[in-house]
Amino acid sequence: MQIQIFDNYSALSQQLAERILEIVKTNRDTVLCLAAGDTPKLAYRLIAEKAKAERIDFTKCTFIGLDEWVGIPPENEGSCHFFLNNNLFKPLSISSSQVHLFNALSGDLHAECRKMDAVISKTEGIDCMVVGIGMNGHIGFNEPGVSFDLTAHVIHLDDNTRAVGQKYFSEKTVLDKGITLGFQHLLLAKEARLIANGSKKAVILKKAIEEPMHSGVPASIMQSHSNGFIMIDKEAASLLQPATFSAKQKNGHDSKW
Ligand code: PGA
Repeated sequence: MQIQIFDNYSALSQQLAERILEIVKTNRDTVLCLAAGDTPKLAYRLIAEKAKAERIDFTKCTFIGLDEWVGIPPENEGSCHFFLNNNLFKPLSISSSQVHLFNALSGDLHAECRKMDAVISKTEGIDCMVVGIGMNGHIGFNEPGVSFDLTAHVIHLDDNTRAVGQKYFSEKTVLDKGITLGFQHLLLAKEARLIANGSKKAVILKKAIEEPMHSGVPASIMQSHSNGFIMIDKEAASLLQPATFSAKQKNGHDSKW
């Protein structure tokens, strides 16, 4: 795992956008799993702007959904579906045949999980997975206590996730279960990038990075990823011990940890 620390959210987003564009330029058939959420929003805007300006071809890419709120329809503005459509797929003119998202309204959610596992198995693997970190350390809806051995699964949402998740909805919404890719998918992704910004993420990031890996802080799984990157701004990195990163990293340069 490498830690990359940036001066601010804008620099982080710029770098993430550049990396995704570079991957797609190198391989038109790229398989991407890009999270919804507040953190990647700016990077997605930059990707769309640059892809248009530089005529970067996304027509052969495949997009895999990370997670979804069970029971929330795609037209609800708080759904991951809605977010990805508006922030990524529409701006990049991605066709629906390129996109595989969880149907969180399915009457058989377990079949939906197996369907998503099969979609991933049929690819040559996820080339790049971009994830956020929840205030409780979750990735996708891999909540505290989750087994690290899972593929796609349905999970009861943690109290913290249900409370924090209200920020995506215009009115109070009952959030009970989530459907999500599991950590087997994350570990098998050829590249995994966890992104976070702001001081509100500093405590949980310190735990995820500096404590030994454990399921109480699911994002600590990143420590065992062979090509994993933690991309954070200075505020999110503010509680890390100096030994965790070198002065060089403060300028946004890579360094092994
Ligand atoms: P956020 O969500 O990007 O909106 O902070 C992160 C997450 O819960 O995974």
